[in-house]
Order: sequence, then C-alpha cells, then structure tokens
Amino acid sequence: DWKMDSFVETTIRGLREKVGNGKVLLALSGGVDSSVAAVLLSKAVGKQLTCVFVDHGLLRKDEGDEVEEVFGPNGPYDLNFIRVNAQQRFYVKLAGVAEPERKRKIIGEEFIRVFEEEAKKIGAVDFLVQGTIYPDVIESGLGDSAVIKSHHNVGGLPDYVDFKEIIEPLRDLFKDEVRKAGLELGIPEKLVFRQPFPGPGLAIRIIGDVSEEKIQILQEADGIFREEMANAGLDKTVGQYFAALTNMRSVGVMGDERTYDYAIALRAVNTTDFMTADAAELPWDVIGKVSSRIVNEVMHVNRVLYDCTGKPPATIEFE
Ligand code: XMP
Repeated sequence: DWKMDSFVETTIRGLREKVGNGKVLLALSGGVDSSVAAVLLSKAVGKQLTCVFVDHGLLRKDEGDEVEEVFGPNGPYDLNFIRVNAQQRFYVKLAGVAEPERKRKIIGEEFIRVFEEEAKKIGAVDFLVQGTIYPDVIESGLGDSAVIKSHHNVGGLPDYVDFKEIIEPLRDLFKDEVRKAGLELGIPEKLVFRQPFPGPGLAIRIIGDVSEEKIQILQEADGIFREEMANAGLDKTVGQYFAALTNMRSVGVMGDERTYDYAIALRAVNTTDFMTADAAELPWDVIGKVSSRIVNEVMHVNRVLYDCTGKPPATIEFE
C-alpha cells in the first residue's frame, strides 16, 4: 500500500525532526492505537521514548505478558519499556464496590495516579504522545451529550504529567488506516486486529463487585470463547465478542453433586460504529462447544447464557 507506505515514512521523518533530542513519554495500553503510535516513535527516536504500560490486573488472559513480549526488552523495538504491575492496588480499591460508574471512576483515577507516579520517576519530559485518532477528534467536538458511561482511555492524561507538548501522530487516521499502518510497521497481526477492549477492562464485564477469584473465572471463560471463535474462523468477521460474569448463581448438577455456581454470559455483536449493534447469530455448534468447555473447564461456573439483545436498548458491555 504505497499511501500507507508514505504515511509511515513521512510521519517517522516528521517525528524525528520535531522531537530532536527531546524525551518522549507514552502510555501504552496494548491496544492498536497506542501500539502503532509507540512503534512510530520508536522508529523515529529509539530510546528517547519511554512507554509505560500499567497492568491493572483487569486484562484478558495472558494479555499483560503478550504486551511485554512485543514491547519489552526481548521484543523487536528500540525503546524503554516500563511495565507497572499495579494489580493489587486496583483490587484493593475495587473491593466491595458494585456500582458500575463508581467502578469506572475508581479505575480511571487509580490509573492516572499510577501513571503519574511513574512519570515523576522519569522526570520532566518534552513530549507526551497520545494515540488520538480522527474519530476521537470528531467525537470530542460534539459537545456534552448525556453521559451513559464515563469512558476512560489512556488518552486523557495530560493534566497530570510534566511535559511541554503533546504529539498525536494518528490524528488524521481512521481505525482501518491505523491498522494498515500497523501492518506496514510489522506489528504482529494479533495486536493490529485486536478487538476493542474497554479501559476499565474486565471490571465492567463482571456484574457487581470485583474479586480476584471472579477475574480469574472470567479470564478462563473468555479465553475459551476466544479460542473457539478463532477455531471456527469467526474471530475476524464478528465485530466484538467476549464473556461476562453475571452475579447470578444458580443450581446445577455435577456428577451426583448439587452445585450452586455462577452463570457466564456470552456476548457477540456486529456493528459498524459501536453506537448501535446487533447480536451476532453465531452457529449453534460453536455456542454449544464453548458452553460445554466452559462448564467443564472453569471452576464455579455451571451455566452459560447467550445474550441476544441489540444496542439499543442494551449496551455492548454489561456495565
Ligand atoms: P457500550 O458498552 O457503551 O460500548 O455499548 C461501546 C464500545 O465502547 C467500548 N467501551 C470502552 N472503550 N473505554 C474504552 O476505551 C471505556 O471505558 C469503554 N467502555 C466501553 C466497548 O467495548 C464497545 O466497543
């Protein structure tokens, strides 16, 4: 793709010129936008770039390690990588909190605090990179609409960090162009085509209060769902799909024993803009396979439900 080719080249050259000998800081989430921004900066200025990856312990199964594999010291890129293992901090703050907006607030605030502490250790930087893409630019120009959910992105940090200027290398790109740039830059496909994943992570896919045990249950169930979607070749065609942990427990039977365990909900949607969405009509054999694997392999789950609601009136996430 010659256009993307020249975007990448021109952007790297431009960044190198702009940054000069300056120090650059980037909050890396492992999502496609911040990853592409990180690689562009790495190619432009190498170790002048520091990427801070906050692991809040609410990521999907193995995801923290996958980010570290790509961006850490054993990965292919020239940059400083800091992984902050802040899991326990988030778990402590979230303990006993059931209300969705409070959970979101707590995670957003703690995230900023952790990032701020890391930024302080690094000291004054010249540039803060944000993975803002064109649709974000338009959206933020729309003014206040009613807040349905307070979205949290690693983008919203500049007030808290000592820096001179913001750099937004993806500001003119749509999502599919960001992906093309990612491929052009040789970023692994797994990362480039990663599904959207909310900033507050699994906390908003666990209805009600969050505990380490629930996170683990959900990670396992969701991991199975994703594996089987990939096996069925549906991972690239269905817009977004994931498991959620309902806070409903119900009676089941295992061998000769009565169980009283959690129900997992499967959610899969097709959407063009994530503002509206239809429940995906997954093949029954895929749902059946996922369901039997989850109840057999994941402790404390004895029931699997399929969410067939559209958005509206439901939202894509559960909280
Ligand atoms: P809802 O649940 O509002 O989700 O229908 C629409 C899309 O937005 C994603 N989402 C988020 N993304 N920070 C994000 O970056 C958030 O706090 C957040 N909440 C929801 C959701 O995964 C879906 O793709």
